[in-house]
Amino acid sequence: AKNVGILAVDIYFPPTCIQQEALEAHDGASKGKYTIGLGQDCMAFCTEVEDVISMSLTVVTSLLEKYGIDPKQIGRLEVGSETVIDKSKSIKTFLMQIFEKSGNTDIEGVDSTNACYGGTAALFNCVNWVESTSWDGRYGLVVCTDSAVYAEGPARPTGGAAAIAFLIGPDAPISFESRFRGSHMAHVYDFYKPNLASEYPVVDGKLSQTCYLMAVDSCYKHFCNKYEKLEGKQFSLCDAEYFVFHSPYNKLVQKSFARLLFNDFLRNASSIDEVAKEKLGPFAALSGDESYQSRDLEKVTQQLAKSLYDAKVQPTTLLPKQVGNMYTASLYAAFASLIHNKHSTLAGQRVVMFSYGSGLTATMFSLRFSEGQHPFSLSNIAAVMDVAGKLESRHEYPPERFVETMKLMEHRYGAKDFVTSKDISLLSPGTYYLTEVDTMYRRFYTKK
Ligand code: ACO
Repeated sequence: AKNVGILAVDIYFPPTCIQQEALEAHDGASKGKYTIGLGQDCMAFCTEVEDVISMSLTVVTSLLEKYGIDPKQIGRLEVGSETVIDKSKSIKTFLMQIFEKSGNTDIEGVDSTNACYGGTAALFNCVNWVESTSWDGRYGLVVCTDSAVYAEGPARPTGGAAAIAFLIGPDAPISFESRFRGSHMAHVYDFYKPNLASEYPVVDGKLSQTCYLMAVDSCYKHFCNKYEKLEGKQFSLCDAEYFVFHSPYNKLVQKSFARLLFNDFLRNASSIDEVAKEKLGPFAALSGDESYQSRDLEKVTQQLAKSLYDAKVQPTTLLPKQVGNMYTASLYAAFASLIHNKHSTLAGQRVVMFSYGSGLTATMFSLRFSEGQHPFSLSNIAAVMDVAGKLESRHEYPPERFVETMKLMEHRYGAKDFVTSKDISLLSPGTYYLTEVDTMYRRFYTKK
């Protein structure tokens, strides 16, 4: 199979959201802390009728319908998620309800979990399958689904929720340049979920920021080395039109891109002009650790990277700023934002992707666009996703109601023997929702 990659995309996020400005005031944070300090505008969350399973049922059904894919044409289905509802039964098996109806139970794949990285692992598995001798000629399907919720405190505004689905196959308008991948994996306790009775993670926020930036550096180095070995020339920021980052909150994305510029400076790459060289000179001798601590370096690199950031990163930031951290779906929602904003000019261009999952696992990889053929064309993908329409039709909750919802969800997590609210008025037609968890913890979903 040639040019294996992403043929089709659809995205779903809950219609319920809270403005960061309102949350900031409610939490007693200083004005601008969430909106400018973290760089976030709004945050989506699941109410009691939605969860990672319902969102993934919704997005998979929608993708199959909108691109006219017969469920029998799917030969592999992989799910990435870090939202654990069941320690044994995979989310993938819930999705089999869609395929059983058409008589297709011959579908490989289960769930992949490692914080926000599971979606990338699932995506690589599917691409590798299509490229392998095990491939039976059918499509792969990848689903990233997460509900990111934090306990009250500084991490709460960095939540979010979404599910995104990709159809994988050959001759794709978004194809993988698999030979250039660079990974960085290590053992760290920066963000983890050891308390199985709670949906909330244990977070060392500061450590997670540094680990993320170290992973950016390390992956970029490996990525550049592989590129140079295979292409016989140096890689720099100028060699990709766009850079897409896993986006816990926008400020970290700004810092990460600035970090790439600093890497280019240290590597003496062609993207760095004389002015930048002069300004960065004083930082050339910093050790790695010192460079992560230096506020001056952060400021100077962000200033120098500003115009490149506006051109190469800003078009990817819409959904992460509006929906929040979607864990496994976060990188891919940033990618969806790029397609939404730039679909008519992407053909022929390269995008570099950075995936990070705490704990930690990270990979930088690149994709290439071509226009593709209907229904698998960039313009049709943008039309199907209807990002603007979905953002416009959302409903804002006041902070008090958001906090109440979080409290209710804390009680519902891991609980049995309850029915959910009959009020599904906010959900659009076609959305799956949770109706009941019975005395045996079995979960039941219906489509609106
Ligand atoms: N106006 C403008 N900016 C402000 C204001 C204000 N009124 N007040 C604070 N700020 C700035 C700070 O200067 C800081 O910016 P800087 O990083 O450029 O210095 C920023 O707002 C954040 O404020 P802090 O006090 O540094 O951080 P806080 O203690 O609020 O926590 C954190 C932020 C660590 C991101 C927290 O939200 C968290 O733990 N989130 C979850 C972990 C996470 O997302 N980690 C990222 C990678 S791992 C993953 O994906 C889960």
